[in-house]
Amino acid sequence: MLVLGLESSCDETAAAIAANGRVVAESVRSQIDLHQKYGGVVPEIASRAHLEAVEDLAQAVLRKAGLKLENLDGLAVTLGPGLVGALLVAVNFAKGLALATKLPLTGVNHVKAHAQAPFLYTDSPNPPTFPYVALVASGGHTSLFLVEDHLNLKVLGQTLDDAAGEAFDKFAKLLGLGYPGGAVVEKLAAKGRKEAYQLARPLIREGLNFSFSGLKTQVRLLYEAENLDNRPHNHPDLANLAASFQEAVIEVLVAKLLTAVKMTGATGAVLAGGVACNGALREAAQVALSQINRPLWTSPVKWCADNGAMIAFLGAKQLEKGQNLLDLAAEAQPRWAADSPMPTL
Ligand code: KG4
Ligand code: ZN
Repeated sequence: MLVLGLESSCDETAAAIAANGRVVAESVRSQIDLHQKYGGVVPEIASRAHLEAVEDLAQAVLRKAGLKLENLDGLAVTLGPGLVGALLVAVNFAKGLALATKLPLTGVNHVKAHAQAPFLYTDSPNPPTFPYVALVASGGHTSLFLVEDHLNLKVLGQTLDDAAGEAFDKFAKLLGLGYPGGAVVEKLAAKGRKEAYQLARPLIREGLNFSFSGLKTQVRLLYEAENLDNRPHNHPDLANLAASFQEAVIEVLVAKLLTAVKMTGATGAVLAGGVACNGALREAAQVALSQINRPLWTSPVKWCADNGAMIAFLGAKQLEKGQNLLDLAAEAQPRWAADSPMPTL
């Protein structure tokens, strides 16, 4: 089945074509440059940039794949969750395409799609086996799921306040490192000592929910008390603080991932979402899973972050079962929980 997937839920516009699970063409346009000076995503700017990009990207992937719209079997679009004005762009564009081509269109849950990223491949596939635990950690979400099959998952735990990616972003903002924070904090942390500062491990032994806002406050108070704002950006104290902060987040994420796998008897674990780009997190999760003889499935970083391939992939699975079909009345779903059926429209 050949499916075109479209994504515009946050600050990346993306399109991809998947054929029976294999990614045959993809294109992503990041808006980071546009939002950077504001220190976060500005919804109005995001919608406008999606509008300018979505058609180009759809055409680009068709061209790359050597296909025309009439060669496709279906269309898929992120219906939610995300910024409503941003979601609307790809949803309306996809509705237009569906109307013009008479292709079936399915609505995909963005977070559910993240949880299946390791199924995507271009070369040698090493797909996860069900049921597995997925940790989806991004700028907007931090959740643990038991993924039973492509179409069904259960929430095991989620953040009670900030998402892990949001914690990285806020930490970066505190240090004046720019937006988004994850990659730059990881780079700075690599130069520091993770034992340098004793930071909290929030809720580490209390169930499967997460909380990162207390850690954020602890770091801010420490930063102020030690006058770290007077240090140049590459000062060892800041690298030490970054390393200690990153270690605290990683320890919590990995401890809960491990507990979830043990509790559910899952086959192994998937790491996904933008925070799964973090090399130290990938390494720590790998070590933890190997200690209980379970595999850790990850994907190349381009598929951990927001992308169209995951939407095309899960969209194809839904189209095979005739699930979440959208008509012209379909509306974007900014708060759609990953384990809930598509809201009736
Ligand atoms: O999944 P994603 O691309 O978009 C959302 O759906 O939110 O995730 C973006 C988040 C941002 O908060 C960013 O700071 C974080 O992922 N991130 C990282 C790294 N790369 C991106 N966090 C930690 N380490 C990284 N290397
Ligand atoms: Zn995402």
